[in-house]
Amino acid sequence: MTSPAMKAVVSDRYGPPEVLRVVDVPRPSPKPGEVRIRIVASAVTASDIFIRSAHVTPILLQVPFRLMIGVTKPRHPILGFVFSGVVDEVSVQARRFRPGDAVYGMTGFRLGAYAEYRCMIESDSRRHGCLARKPANLTHEEATAAVYGGSLALQYVDQGAIRPGDDILVYGASGTSGTIAVQYAKSLGAHVTGVCSTHNLDLVASLGADDVLDYTRDQAPPPGAHYTLVLDSVGRLKSSKLKTACKQALAPGGRYVSIDDGDLQLSSERIDRLTTFIESGVLSPVLGRTYPLGEIVEAHRFVEGGHKRGGVAVSIG
Ligand SMILES: NC(=O)c1ccc[n+]([C@@H]2O[C@H](COP(=O)([O-])OP(=O)(O)OC[C@H]3O[C@@H](n4cnc5c(N)ncnc54)[C@H](OP(=O)(O)O)[C@@H]3O)[C@@H](O)[C@H]2O)c1
Repeated sequence: MTSPAMKAVVSDRYGPPEVLRVVDVPRPSPKPGEVRIRIVASAVTASDIFIRSAHVTPILLQVPFRLMIGVTKPRHPILGFVFSGVVDEVSVQARRFRPGDAVYGMTGFRLGAYAEYRCMIESDSRRHGCLARKPANLTHEEATAAVYGGSLALQYVDQGAIRPGDDILVYGASGTSGTIAVQYAKSLGAHVTGVCSTHNLDLVASLGADDVLDYTRDQAPPPGAHYTLVLDSVGRLKSSKLKTACKQALAPGGRYVSIDDGDLQLSSERIDRLTTFIESGVLSPVLGRTYPLGEIVEAHRFVEGGHKRGGVAVSIG
């Protein structure tokens, strides 16, 4: 008997957004230890852009990156790194989740979130990803921004070991991770300065930032400003005179942390913490735009432009 079909976004080569195609593929069935998720929403993240284009910098990282995702073409043709959905079938060995549970997570390098169904093992791994219970107060689209931006923000803000009263600067405060980093640093009692461009000043102030700097106008932090943590939440590809000046405005013993240093850890324990913060109102993800699955090419074009606000979701279910 042939398995029923499902819609998925596939790519059989690396390249621009136009390599993405919506096709019918067989629906997967859960293997022992797996649960099957009916995906309601995915996202277009920085990771999806890197994987689709196979373009990473510095060039030295190209070889290990391609070994992970496929040397000449994507090893797993169904792309998509982030999902939110509902468990619809579980194998006998599955223990954590039951049919009907709403979950969100990241797939790891086997990708596959641009599809109506995806099977996942319940435990964390770099290859197989991670999943956790979805916050009840978010839509599935919002949940995709939360899990990606929140996992990055918690991992990298925690590296700063923030104490109440610390002066923290979040460079790139309007991105998926930056919007959550500002809120998380505030919740830890820091005095937070957010950096963004003119049209996002109000957004970043509304997230709780005490001060906001505009990287398109300001050339340096205010005289006398010194930060215990400068978090670069947009990575090495996006820079400005202000970014260089912020790096030089560290307090004695202060730290500069780049979101590009080391790997994003796929941790369900961290996502569970995120769920608690979101449900208690401490953190709230920002969702800039939502595209239907059929407009995946447009969604990738928009995100590749580099100026999204918060996250960009893709509605599937
Ligand atoms: N370590 C890892 O394993 C790992 C994994 C995944 C991602 N990452 C890194 O995480 C980064 C963050 O991704 P994200 O989705 O949160 O954000 P993002 O999409 O990279 O950033 C979007 C924001 O960047 C702002 N921006 C654009 N140019 C800027 C500039 N020159 N200076 C300051 N801000 C600028 C835009 O605001 P305006 O429109 O106002 O300009 C926009 O709101 C990725 O780019 C990647 O480098 C690392």
